[in-house]
Amino acid sequence: MSIAFKERPGSADSKNRYLHAPRHADFTIDQDWASYSAVEHDRWDRLFKRSQAILRGRACDDFFAMTNKLKLSDSGIPDMEKLSDRLEKISGWRVVPVVELVPDEVFFNHLANRRFPAGAFIRPEEEMDYLKEPDVFHDIFGHVPLLANPVYADFMQAYGKGGRRAMQLGRLQNLARLYWYTVEFGLIRSKAGLRIFGAGIASSATESVFALESDSPHRIAFDLDRVMRSRYLIDDFQQTYFVIDSFEKLLDECYRDFGPIYERLATASDIEPHEVIASDEVLTKGTLAYFKKMRNDTTLDRPGAA
Ligand SMILES: [Fe+2]
Repeated sequence: MSIAFKERPGSADSKNRYLHAPRHADFTIDQDWASYSAVEHDRWDRLFKRSQAILRGRACDDFFAMTNKLKLSDSGIPDMEKLSDRLEKISGWRVVPVVELVPDEVFFNHLANRRFPAGAFIRPEEEMDYLKEPDVFHDIFGHVPLLANPVYADFMQAYGKGGRRAMQLGRLQNLARLYWYTVEFGLIRSKAGLRIFGAGIASSATESVFALESDSPHRIAFDLDRVMRSRYLIDDFQQTYFVIDSFEKLLDECYRDFGPIYERLATASDIEPHEVIASDEVLTKGTLAYFKKMRNDTTLDRPGAA
């Protein structure tokens, strides 16, 4: 099963042991690395080993190169301070511990200042592949490697800077869709074929296979306007994956004033997750077989759901 953020932060049955940790004004907390148990470190190690094996030949080359460069392969849950010291030397980014999803404005402010907020808790054993809220494995294993890629690092900062503008203009939903379909569920072309770069896919063993190999979903070339109009599923595999050509091209497309795009989108209709439209460059047209069988309680996007 895919990543799911259906359970909102602070819910009664949350297994997040940091729920009552004191929070600073910017919503960061003390990771208190020494407090992780041997069982929690072992769970990271097993998740890491399993994901690495599945991602061979599926994730983009940079994902592996940066995972090694940042020493994420060292045993145990990373100490975010030490990891940040390594990352900062490479791209100027740091990883800061938080309890759970932070308010949009706080999130954008961290990104705009090259800080990536990462959940400190690790998922419980019974949720190894069905994530109810982003945990340290999703946030660090999934998101942090590419923050060491200088172009991707700039894209993420630009995204953060664009957040405030989107909020002011009431277009947050459009911007959230860009994040969802790239940072979380993006695919990238390579000489060897399509590869994964989205953290939501990379940190899910089952979606890593589904996104690339299932006949069910559509795979469509990235188009900024199109992506920003596209609704998405927050608690199941995606029905459509968007494919970028390169991180350079993604940054180029997004490093501009979104004001005129938002104006256009204000009168444009939303596109449903399974829809293919006439202007699409369709790389593979899905059968949608998985979705025809899926349950009825799949939840569609809402502002800030990334
Ligand atoms: Fe994420």
